[in-house]
Amino acid sequence: MIVDAQGRRFRNLRVSLTAACNYACGYCVPDGKRLQAARHELSAAALLKATRMLIDLAGVEKLRITGGEPLLSPKFDAFLPAAMALPLKDVAVTTNGQLLARKADLIKAAGLKRINVSLDTLDAGRFRHIARSGDLATVLAGIDAMLDAGLKVKVNMVPMRTANADQILPMLDYCLGRGIELRYIELMNMGHLRYGGQYRRDFIGMDDLLDAIGERHEFTRTDAPYDSTSVRYEVPGRGYFGIIANESEPFCSACTRLRLSSNGRLYGCLSNANSHDVSALLEAPEQQARDGLKQVLAAALQDKRSAFTGEVTVMKFIGG
Ligand code: GTP
Ligand code: 5AD
Repeated sequence: MIVDAQGRRFRNLRVSLTAACNYACGYCVPDGKRLQAARHELSAAALLKATRMLIDLAGVEKLRITGGEPLLSPKFDAFLPAAMALPLKDVAVTTNGQLLARKADLIKAAGLKRINVSLDTLDAGRFRHIARSGDLATVLAGIDAMLDAGLKVKVNMVPMRTANADQILPMLDYCLGRGIELRYIELMNMGHLRYGGQYRRDFIGMDDLLDAIGERHEFTRTDAPYDSTSVRYEVPGRGYFGIIANESEPFCSACTRLRLSSNGRLYGCLSNANSHDVSALLEAPEQQARDGLKQVLAAALQDKRSAFTGEVTVMKFIGG
């Protein structure tokens, strides 16, 4: 097993099926741009082979399927059932929910147990303003389909001062009412947000979020798993919510994440643009591929930072 000086190792793999997305959210995509698939995207079979090798060589135990928007990729239909058959403790998906209702039967049949849906507002007009595409009612129907199928659903919301600050409480009420864990994600200083004033203007920190929630609800801090992205709170008798506090309470010292992009690059850290192309290695003879991948894993682990500062990396390539 490859472990760094702080005891960190890769336990948690996020595989991006595609960089393409049917949304163009302002915090992910610069104005006027669309998210297209990366050139030289790997096939579902190649991504699965990489996943199998990473389970074996790095000790990966948890897999999250991401994008772009993973449900948009034709690879999803083959990748999900195959991933469910791998020796993993946990498989999950992060999606914008737009295609969830359509894929519900496939997801149910594959036996997926939990899913995270990104949703920033319950106001249909504002939704289109933020996502610059899509339809709120379709996403809500998708969430209902997952709940009906018995999946555990989490919703991720990025609160932004000028776009959806008024939704902090309505979103919590919606989620608590349905047994959904809402996680507020502090806006991350990624990609084009590093230039211009949007990040500073829109960032809402953990303290302000807790103050806003405290106006309506009693809550207490509660346990979260060791390498969880979120600080977790219980609203007694009603449920749970979390804050993914990249800035206010980063979890870098306990981070176990590794990312594989759709064009075959491994990223050891969200806050480091360094990446390692493994696409050629996947086609090499078995022993050569294993030896090469071990070296890449050691280098990717060195990429882990001790603090989250954001990066120029565009989120669509690494799936959050
Ligand atoms: P759970 O296993 O359900 O807790 O999922 P998760 O939070 O690991 O995955 P999800 O895709 O829902 O991620 C939510 C958000 O957490 C992402 O969009 C990022 O904003 C943030 N996040 C995920 N991984 C990292 C990471 O390695 N570092 C930091 N700083 N933030 C991360
Ligand atoms: N800051 C915070 N969250 C972001 N996401 C994408 N870009 C950013 C950013 N700059 C989130 C999406 C989704 C997840 C995959 O990544 O809202 O929940």
